[in-house]
Amino acid sequence: MTPSSPIGIFDSGVGGLTVLKEIMRQLPNEDIVYLADTARVPYGGRPPEEIVKFNEEIIPFLLERGVKLIIMACGTSSAIAYPIVKDKYPVQIVSLIEPGSRAAVAASPSGRIGLIATVGTVNSHAYQKTIHSLKKEAEVFAHACPLFVPLIEGGFIEADETKRVVKEYLKPLLNDKIDTLILGCTHYPHLTNALRERTGPSVAFVDPAQEAVSDAKKLLHKAGTISAKTHVPKYEYLLTGSVVQFQDIGSRLLGKPITPAKHVII
Ligand code: DGL
Repeated sequence: MTPSSPIGIFDSGVGGLTVLKEIMRQLPNEDIVYLADTARVPYGGRPPEEIVKFNEEIIPFLLERGVKLIIMACGTSSAIAYPIVKDKYPVQIVSLIEPGSRAAVAASPSGRIGLIATVGTVNSHAYQKTIHSLKKEAEVFAHACPLFVPLIEGGFIEADETKRVVKEYLKPLLNDKIDTLILGCTHYPHLTNALRERTGPSVAFVDPAQEAVSDAKKLLHKAGTISAKTHVPKYEYLLTGSVVQFQDIGSRLLGKPITPAKHVII
């Protein structure tokens, strides 16, 4: 592992692009290998054992590509698989849960924290437990949003259907008078505009990727493996499903071409 080794990131689909955007902002000289397990998206409603198995396939696959660090660009993997796989491999793995919880506690004066995430993440109680360990009196109001991922993967970002679903999903949380909302699935920051329209300006949004990438940057500095400031980064997209669909929707969401991209079997 050297400064010129890439960082590996993975998600079930285009959700990880919100993490990639954050990497491009905070770590603009890093090469990235992005694995999107689009053949098996969505992850959110799958049993925990399956999520762990997918992680145990993807992490060695990324290691074979010489990655120096892995960022789990997937909330569901971070919530369910991270505790099981974190010490199993010869590479540091960054999860989204602890950084996201830390950011939420810091952002919430009232301690009334909303969480929207996949069914798997909500049911794992990973955020709830971590937030309580950081601030005993905090209250976490969690709501699973299973329709978001298929809508986003289908490119329905600004669609009226999506806005209706956003309204329904946010209703209970707004009734609970949250002052902070964790976007606990990496797909959800793609819906920031629609979410903001419903919550108004008074609810702080937490995208765990911001804090997680900042943690990753510190780890790279510490290990002496941060890329040189003069390095022009390369991005490589590896997909277990359709390349064309990912390139089409992904490039719209990222605002940059998704290339080079190729199909892989893991
Ligand atoms: N983007 C992932 C997450 O953060 C996976 C969502 C899914 O595939 O259901 O949870």
